[in-house]
Amino acid sequence: MSRKALIAANWKMYKTPAEAQAFVDAFLPLVAGHTRDEIVLFPSATSLSTVVEAVAGSNVAVGLQNMHWAEEGAYTGESSAAMLKAVGATHTLIGHSERRQYFGENDEVVNLKLQTALKHGIIPIVCIGEHLDEREAGKTAVVLCAQLRGALTGVTLEAAAPIVIAYEPVWAIGTGRTATPEMAAEAHQIIRAEISQILGPAVADAVRILYGGSVKPDNASSLLQQHDIDGALVGGASLKPDSFAAIVKY
Ligand code: 13P
Repeated sequence: MSRKALIAANWKMYKTPAEAQAFVDAFLPLVAGHTRDEIVLFPSATSLSTVVEAVAGSNVAVGLQNMHWAEEGAYTGESSAAMLKAVGATHTLIGHSERRQYFGENDEVVNLKLQTALKHGIIPIVCIGEHLDEREAGKTAVVLCAQLRGALTGVTLEAAAPIVIAYEPVWAIGTGRTATPEMAAEAHQIIRAEISQILGPAVADAVRILYGGSVKPDNASSLLQQHDIDGALVGGASLKPDSFAAIVKY
């Protein structure tokens, strides 16, 4: 089964609307006509509508870095699925390790958010990954499988199709220390096998599993050539148009 790769830019807490606009103005010509991969930008909430308008009619989609699970309510600082859709975003990140680390998100919260995204037709990119001490203790597979089971609890076979998983080893995020293609490929195989256990082989075969963690123009191709790696979730190297375009065109 051939899976269309998805290359996503997670801008984290960088870029004002003017800076986001400048990025898109420079970036779109660099990737014009590129249809081999899906391209998604994840700006901060304050730049979301600027970026949606800037990419209109292009081959680039836009998502929110975080979304609440409730329909609406007294949740200061949060954004709902309906708000995301009303602005024109189509994707959301769920359970990024920085959300888990600094904002207390656990597998239960990830599961609630995933259910809400699926209900609203928003494409969810669910982030999982082990910490360095877990890898060194030989617990990578156990951690990844537990995170997957937690995230996918109660998700039905029928609803699962849009789900995208991002494998982001926490020790590789923002450190310049990338997983080797072999390490990443091994983790992706573990993830796909566990999804097969949970949701069956057809879903496992179709689901896209992205790699994230210090992806740069010079290592993107060796990572993305791996059989089970179906795209990349890029932080630092996605902040400059030429560098992100080089990754898109790996
Ligand atoms: P870096 O590419 O900066 O390591 O960040 C990865 C990441 O967290 C993407 O979500």
